[in-house]
Amino acid sequence: MTRFTVAIDGPAAAGKGTISKAVAAHFGFAHLDTGLLYRAVGAKVLAGGDPVQAAKALTPQDLDGDLRTPEVAQAASRVAVLPDVRAALVDFQRDFAARDGGAVLDGRDIGTVICPDAQVKLFVTASAEVRAERRYLELVEQHPATSRDTVLADVIARDKRDRERAEAPLKPADDAVTIDTSDMSIEDAVAAAVAQVQKAFGQT
Ligand code: DC
Repeated sequence: MTRFTVAIDGPAAAGKGTISKAVAAHFGFAHLDTGLLYRAVGAKVLAGGDPVQAAKALTPQDLDGDLRTPEVAQAASRVAVLPDVRAALVDFQRDFAARDGGAVLDGRDIGTVICPDAQVKLFVTASAEVRAERRYLELVEQHPATSRDTVLADVIARDKRDRERAEAPLKPADDAVTIDTSDMSIEDAVAAAVAQVQKAFGQT
């Protein structure tokens, strides 16, 4: 099989990661969580580095650290507004999408900027309250002192920054199919995504 790209975009904690992994496993495609690239750059900045240099020098090993913290998420969202950081990460993402055997990339600008020719574009979303509650339940397991209000405020701040930035803002591509997971179980959301991919994949 040649190229087949699935672009999955959407705001924080909408279910993109779970859906992307499940779609990749179902079809035997490779998966890249592009948020990790921005998180790795954000982590280097928190450690005192320069964002553009960090983005240019990023290696696959940099994606292995503990990048799933709220501090790193906010730092990622802040470096993601910088056009030079975004430009430095484009080739890595496009090379990944071009591999043989199919690829799923999830992020904010995959269907709009990174892979505008993707065969499938999904925009996975949910209300801010539902997303914050999901993220809260994840975080409170590791950090019992986590506050619901702080998590909601973090989600809203990150959404605003991601949506309002000038360069590659978070928005659905014109030809994306939106999946609103607010009232869906994860199984139903995965099934909806798989069905969309199946429809396009069957035609290749
Ligand atoms: O998907 P995530 O929560 O791991 O992403 C962390 C931040 O990285 C997000 O707030 C914005 C940025 N990001 C981006 O600008 N473009 C992408 N394709 C992926 C993530």
